[in-house]
Amino acid sequence: MLTSGGDAPGMNAAIRAVVRTGLAHGIEVFGIHRGYSGLLEDMIQPMNPSSVANIIQRGGTILRTSRCPEFHTKTARKKAAEVLKKHGIDALVVIGGDGSFRGALALQQESGIPVVGVPGTIDLDIPFTDDTIGFDTAVNTGIVLIDKIRDTASSHDRIFLVEVMGRHCGMIALHTGIGAGAESILVPEANLPKEKVVDEICSSIDRGTRRGKTSHIIVVAEGCSFGGVTKLAKMLEDRGYDPRIAILGHTQRGGSPSAHDRLLASTLGAVSVHALLSGIKEGMIGVHADEVNLVSFKKINEKQPKFSEELLKVAKTLAV
Ligand code: ADP
Ligand code: F6P
Repeated sequence: MLTSGGDAPGMNAAIRAVVRTGLAHGIEVFGIHRGYSGLLEDMIQPMNPSSVANIIQRGGTILRTSRCPEFHTKTARKKAAEVLKKHGIDALVVIGGDGSFRGALALQQESGIPVVGVPGTIDLDIPFTDDTIGFDTAVNTGIVLIDKIRDTASSHDRIFLVEVMGRHCGMIALHTGIGAGAESILVPEANLPKEKVVDEICSSIDRGTRRGKTSHIIVVAEGCSFGGVTKLAKMLEDRGYDPRIAILGHTQRGGSPSAHDRLLASTLGAVSVHALLSGIKEGMIGVHADEVNLVSFKKINEKQPKFSEELLKVAKTLAV
């Protein structure tokens, strides 16, 4: 098992579940450190029940993680397969995001080694799963932080632009913004030209002000095409507003996982082992309509992540 891509709260709970489920079925379990980079460097150690004691509550990943550009090459993946075979490892669990799953599929197709994926990313940007490990915690963290910013915004009658993570996906912004009662939420999926974005924000602020609102929180997904909150703040300044900015960044990626993420990770980690035992060759263990399901990596690679247009409409209605 390895963790790959950005760490996400709950990855440790998934690691624990894979180890303990595997051992319960009489399987030897190995932990690969530092994702695909560590696999190439043979950073592999056997795991036992104690190696995963006292980790369910910890953020990050005890196995550590990496982004490994080398893994895009066939040569590297051939070496990875040789390392796995050298240790007598005959199946792999990859806990990570869609990028990690592209690597997993390539490795599986080229080596024949079965690889099952567990969706671990705060971004909620993987097709065919309603949930990913870490998203719930990231959203809860974002809401707690925006609640604090709201105190200052209200006390000083201020406009705040709060940038949240999510890479190209607006789901963190949407959920965090709704949960924190933001006046506006900007997501890349809306795909608006920057002048239109600024027009919309200005009319939302003015509308609120006319109703007696004195503070405004605008949640901005980092993937929006106008180039980040600093540029947006400048555009608002040019129109006579005086916004402050707060970039939540990696604060949303760390911290103790929520109850929801611990449960999700424990379930998906356990099912990933069952899937390999039942002879599955490749695919992600995801969740759809409260059911755990298996989806081929091939299908995932072909589809764009879904975005909830309906929820965006709800957000607009609520933020009058
Ligand atoms: P995430 O898994 O969170 O989406 P990345 O997109 O950074 O994060 O992917 C993690 C790692 O997966 C990359 O650093 C690389 O090693 C591997 N990877 C991503 N895309 C591919 C690909 N097309 N082929 C092979 N490996 C890939
Ligand atoms: O995929 C998780 C994520 O935190 C994204 O939200 C963000 O765009 C990216 O990783 C940042 O990656 P890094 O920590 O490598 O800069």
